Amino acid sequence: MSTAPTVSAGVSWYVNQAAAATVPDLGFGAVSRRPLERHATLPGYAPTALHDVGELAARLGVASLLVKDESYRLGLPSFKILGASWATMNAVAGWLGRDVGDLTLEAARDALDGAGVTLVAATDGNHGRGVARMARLLGAASTILVPVGTARARIEGIASEGAEVRVVDGTYDDAIAASALLAGPTALVVSDTSWPGYAAVPRAVVEGYSTMFHEVDDEIARRGLTAPTVVAFQSGVGAFAAAGLRHYRGRTGPEGTPVRTVVVEPSTANCLMASARAGQMMEVPGPHRSTMAGLNCGLPSELVWPILQAGTDVFVAIDDRWTDEAMRAFAAAGIVAGESGAATLGALLAAADQPELRESLGLTADASVLLVDTEGATDPENYAAVVGRPPADVAPRSQD
Ligand SMILES: Cc1ncc(COP(=O)(O)O)c(C=O)c1O
Repeated sequence: MSTAPTVSAGVSWYVNQAAAATVPDLGFGAVSRRPLERHATLPGYAPTALHDVGELAARLGVASLLVKDESYRLGLPSFKILGASWATMNAVAGWLGRDVGDLTLEAARDALDGAGVTLVAATDGNHGRGVARMARLLGAASTILVPVGTARARIEGIASEGAEVRVVDGTYDDAIAASALLAGPTALVVSDTSWPGYAAVPRAVVEGYSTMFHEVDDEIARRGLTAPTVVAFQSGVGAFAAAGLRHYRGRTGPEGTPVRTVVVEPSTANCLMASARAGQMMEVPGPHRSTMAGLNCGLPSELVWPILQAGTDVFVAIDDRWTDEAMRAFAAAGIVAGESGAATLGALLAAADQPELRESLGLTADASVLLVDTEGATDPENYAAVVGRPPADVAPRSQD
């Protein structure tokens, strides 16, 4: 069989020949509700909305489209705080020699008082803001590294949490390497990607993201909605997708067929697709200039790569114009989605005219699709340029 992706009209895809029925455990253990239970104790916690977007389902030619709306989560414009918070608590517990299981935010803040701890992270925006927020809640300092070219609004967002923001002259992957060098006796690196010898914190990031999928299960049960037959995850280093794949791989839809899993990347930073084709982790060198800034990663996280390799049915890479199209489609449906947030809808819209891709993705007339809008308008200037109006002028969708 060919390992070449199929390329057409700003979209390419690769049907994964290494897909397996289940994902490897890799020491994670069973999917647990513990991070959700801990998040529920944080100030401002509420489950985010799950929209049942009939008009977009009709446009895609599927039975239903559920959108988990993470444009506002714990006071921030993306889901990333869910990983940053659980990972920070784990890192702090490790540093204090305490069990994370009984370390509350208040107890951690008291224990860190006067200790001079700094949280360090590299980011293309959202993760770093989450870490900076956690530092603020804990009364600690934070140093956040961003690649050159990061939108001013994203830098200002991080700085607004009280962080020192350093611009690294290079890609996101260069910023990651620079952040690893800052680790020290009182400098705790809270990264969402892993490297040799550094896995515990990125593992906690994946666990933290599971919160969303438990909330989806709870809401589907509460409203009697149809469970998904297709789930799609937008990916940078793959931690978010790994959380989703751990949750959904091995599940079946209402008809008993396995849930179809899809991973979406920018065409210019499709390191997961490249790795799948090669059968091993591959780097896609930068510069990575997609507007999908959160997905501009050239190297998968080595911790989660085996989960993506086994758990993904189809890898899709899209040009920016498809996520632009999706941002507009979401706005028309009353949902604010930033560039990375809209990427999975972008891939489905790109598939609309591609019968072969539709079939690969499982986009049949009776399909029920689940997507996550992973961020709001984190670059308001580009949002207004793409959508034609500022995010504040998008009439919010009433709760379905
Ligand atoms: C909004 C948004 N969506 C999705 C992702 C992808 O997450 P991951 O890097 O874990 O693949 C990111 C990463 O920064 C992001 O910011």
